[in-house]
Amino acid sequence: MDGQLLPVLLLFLLGASGLQGQGQGPERPSEDLLEDTPGEEVPKEDGVLVLNHRTLGLALQEYPALLVEFFAPWCGHCKALAPEYSKAAALLAAESVTATLAKVDGPAERELTEEFGVTGYPTLKFFRDGNRTHPEEYTGPREAKGIVEWLKRRVGSSATRLEDEEGAQALMDAGDVVVIGFFQDEDVATFLALARDALDMTFGFTDQPKLFQKFGLTKDTVVLFKKFDEGRADFPVDEELGLDLGDLSRFLITHSMLLVTEFSHQVSSAAWGCRAGWMGPGSHRKPFHRPPGGSSAPGSSTICCCLSTRRWLHIGSSWRASGRRLPHSGGRYWGSRRKG
Ligand SMILES: *[C@@H]1O[C@H](CO)[C@@H](O)[C@H](O)[C@H]1NC(C)=O
Repeated sequence: MDGQLLPVLLLFLLGASGLQGQGQGPERPSEDLLEDTPGEEVPKEDGVLVLNHRTLGLALQEYPALLVEFFAPWCGHCKALAPEYSKAAALLAAESVTATLAKVDGPAERELTEEFGVTGYPTLKFFRDGNRTHPEEYTGPREAKGIVEWLKRRVGSSATRLEDEEGAQALMDAGDVVVIGFFQDEDVATFLALARDALDMTFGFTDQPKLFQKFGLTKDTVVLFKKFDEGRADFPVDEELGLDLGDLSRFLITHSMLLVTEFSHQVSSAAWGCRAGWMGPGSHRKPFHRPPGGSSAPGSSTICCCLSTRRWLHIGSSWRASGRRLPHSGGRYWGSRRKG
């Protein structure tokens, strides 16, 4: 029966090619084998391929976009990820995204963990076009939708090319924070790279003069449109230096936050990104000072204020502002939420 023959053949073929190193040429015989025996594929668990040192190479040939999770059976974070990972596999299938999820039991597959330098669990690596030597480290969220979005921005374009007003309007309607690059001279590669990782924003770009005109632009600019606060923020591209990834990413983080953002676990990374500070009740983190006037009393909320202006001082009665400039903060301010 084919079913019993396959593993033996695989072992043989992989053993043979193993002697010649990691052969990845399209001529590799095992590829034909896979095609010749439909249904005799690598086992799947909840939509996720289960790979080992024999089958990883086959999967790499078969799937041009392969995300591999190295897990350990005893690892708590891996257990937490498992249902999200399966859900992501189902979403990818439902949306016909050409990306495949797989997993490898790390402790049972020492050869692979050594090959890929896996030192902790879970570790996720993304393999493109069967390239075994240069996987991309997965740095995205560990929940289903985030995983899917991270992959979509790699297998497809990370930003939508806009040709006309209708297209621009449709994109702007699609999200709370929409970033459009208006580029006539600037190369879009930097912009697209940033868009691959900024999953909570929607990206588009255009070189159409009529769109420049429509949005009142005369030179290359990245515009962040938001459905809150002041509605729009412009980042003009430096004509001499070009688009700076670091500067643009700090700009987007700062301007995509609410004018005053209450500190929480979710915003902490964004807060670090824009060098804002916060105060926990009774705590003190340099170089930021304790809020005056009892706002650091037990139970008071604390905020992170991520601004270079004092606009947030005028945002209404639910926030109490200290009006004091933070030292070493680039002119940012902090305040605390008024109770009740
Ligand atoms: C894998 O990717 C790296 C970096 O892009 C490239 O230098 C290398 O040639 C690729 N290897 C194969 C086998 O395609």
